[in-house]
Amino acid sequence: MSSVAPVRIGVVGCGLMGRELAAVCGRWSQLVDHPSAPEIVAVADPNPAAREWFRRVSTVETFAEDWRPLVEDDRIDVLYLAVPHDLHEELYIAAAGAGRDFLGEKPFGIDLPAAARIAAAVDGSSSFVRVSSEFPFFPGALRAFSYVSSGALGDILEVRSQFAHSSDIDRTKSINWKRRVETCGEIGVMGDLGVHVAHVPLRLGFRPESVYALLDNVVTERPGPDGAAVPCDTWDNALLACRVPGGPSPEDRRFTMLWETRRIAPGQMNSWSFEALGMDGGVRFSTRTPATMQRFALRDGEQVWEEVQPGNLSSWPTISGGIFEFGFSDALMQMWASYLAERAGALGNRFGTATVGEALDAHRVFDAALRSQASGRAEQPHG
Ligand SMILES: NC(=O)c1ccc[n+]([C@@H]2O[C@H](COP(=O)([O-])OP(=O)(O)OC[C@H]3O[C@@H](n4cnc5c(N)ncnc54)[C@H](O)[C@@H]3O)[C@@H](O)[C@H]2O)c1
Repeated sequence: MSSVAPVRIGVVGCGLMGRELAAVCGRWSQLVDHPSAPEIVAVADPNPAAREWFRRVSTVETFAEDWRPLVEDDRIDVLYLAVPHDLHEELYIAAAGAGRDFLGEKPFGIDLPAAARIAAAVDGSSSFVRVSSEFPFFPGALRAFSYVSSGALGDILEVRSQFAHSSDIDRTKSINWKRRVETCGEIGVMGDLGVHVAHVPLRLGFRPESVYALLDNVVTERPGPDGAAVPCDTWDNALLACRVPGGPSPEDRRFTMLWETRRIAPGQMNSWSFEALGMDGGVRFSTRTPATMQRFALRDGEQVWEEVQPGNLSSWPTISGGIFEFGFSDALMQMWASYLAERAGALGNRFGTATVGEALDAHRVFDAALRSQASGRAEQPHG
């Protein structure tokens, strides 16, 4: 085994995602010969109960109310920034200004101007920064990505990238920060789920040149902290129909790409899916059926969808046998394995997690979607 470098991590935001990282670090030994050994040494959250949860993580030395001591602490190698969207800009810019490496949660700024300012700060810094997006690390998603990148599809006909759940189908569910424009952003569900659907298409070079959006705010009020109804003003569901250049020349034909993000999708628990069809082949994968992916081919004059079982082979090798099933927490561990391997210069040709440029491109599309919703026409992403 080659040398392993300890990586001291500070977590800002001890909610859902901060805790997931604690679980990832706790079973890091599942990875084979990874160059880094992460441990959480500091946490920051103004909510005492959220901080207290981390008492069970024996490596944590610092429990802070404010994030500034973590950003300024030279003994911390990497920060994981997992806070509500209205806090991204100040925190991410401060982390870049202090030269801290970090994995920032999506959407990487509450809107396009915030994302652009964060990207400029990262550009002007020495920080190694990536954006959280774990679903492409499902083995079936990685296989679908490789298949499309290989050119096996020929001329692309259409691409569909979707994330759908039904967490908000219950109208009596209480309001939270993800359902308010002030804290989630005007982009609403696109801020919540949009980077997840953007990551693979953008990595494949599928950049929309125009966007026609259908945005829907279905539930406009929810019970507040005292039970009285308060406005729930974010978009719940978004369907973006994008036109994408099929080649570099203006004469090249354009293909259709759909980005779909839904918080109210009856029948869906939490499904990320990707599908691409071309003249010579096709591919589709959904986390709803994680053990299989489908490929399309014309064989002896027949149209054939064939099922492939990708096994448990993601970005970084693990001690688990290749025949076992893969799940959400495995995807998170693989994303962290990828981020820390890339930081250590050891990623090789493995799949890397989302870049700052990809998060910014995603924001450009969401911004065009907001303008399209207002104008009723297709709009071009700016920049
Ligand atoms: N990658 C994914 O699959 C995924 C899933 C859910 C959420 N997210 C993203 O993760 C981020 C956090 O979401 P979450 O679901 O963990 O939210 P959460 O509400 O569960 O946790 C957020 C935490 O941030 C804390 N916080 C608020 N203000 C703070 C401050 N000034 N300093 C430090 N902490 C502060 C809150 O007290 C809370 O504990 C968001 O950007 C969200 O979009 C990503």
